[in-house]
Amino acid sequence: MSKIVIIGSISMDLVMETNRLAEAGETVFGSQFSMVPGGKGANQAVAIGRLSSKNDHVEMLGAVGNDQFASGLLENLSQNQVVSENVGTIPYSTGVAQITLYDNDNRIIYCPGANAKVDARNFDKEWDIIADADLVVLQNEISHQTNLAIAQFCHQKGIRVLYNPAPSRDTDIEMLEFVDVITPNEHEVKELFPHRDLEEIIKSYPNKLLVTLGTKGSIFFDGNDIQKIPAIKAKVVDTTGAGDTFNGAFGYAISKGLSFKEAVSFGTLASHLSVQGFGAQGGMPYLKEMKESAYYEKTWAIK
Ligand code: RIB
Repeated sequence: MSKIVIIGSISMDLVMETNRLAEAGETVFGSQFSMVPGGKGANQAVAIGRLSSKNDHVEMLGAVGNDQFASGLLENLSQNQVVSENVGTIPYSTGVAQITLYDNDNRIIYCPGANAKVDARNFDKEWDIIADADLVVLQNEISHQTNLAIAQFCHQKGIRVLYNPAPSRDTDIEMLEFVDVITPNEHEVKELFPHRDLEEIIKSYPNKLLVTLGTKGSIFFDGNDIQKIPAIKAKVVDTTGAGDTFNGAFGYAISKGLSFKEAVSFGTLASHLSVQGFGAQGGMPYLKEMKESAYYEKTWAIK
């Protein structure tokens, strides 16, 4: 049984597809508009929930507002095997991300709303839930101070923390000593360690610094060798949430006892499947779909 607690953002994604980006002061036509569940925290929770079994406990902590988006987002978590009963509802707006899909890629403007009000200083029951976890998953769409307080608490209690520093901020480096795995992408790692060579930095953090490189896969140091795990080619529908799927699936695999390298490959397969569906969560695979893939390794002992 895995007990995984994800603390982070829960947002509504307002997605506009377009064949042309607007210049300043210009209006262009979009071709399609959709509202779909998102938020890096909720996305990672759903990625884990879909892979989990009835014996696992996957719980989301965070906050939604008291507007028309809130109930649907909470319902979506429950439908994906994520416990959401301790997510707060506050008199504010729910987090929203405005996403433009253009030329097979996304551009996102994130407005935190209630996500910005998640504050560890107000935690009570939440500390007990966190203390009971075997893995805690964090990202950067809630405040740094809250993330830091949670990471320090977990570090003191010996609870593993998977930290995805997205989107990056100047304070990310303060998290490093308190987390077990940090997963920046190629841009975020440059902000974390400016002017340092990627392979040299990776060697300083064996089995801890895992850098995702988009279509080039991911890279980490296993203590002996640099490991480069290639991405699996896909017919891409939407890359939104691919990183969240990778992080969620990687964390889930680690909690199930797979080796670091196996967990990276497991996450790589999950994100390969996720980009073939629309929306951040639309293509996130269930364990059954993972097992049906030709890339699923029989040695991955996940029931
Ligand atoms: O990582 C993708 C997510 O980031 C989207 O679902 C959106 O909510 C953004 O904040």
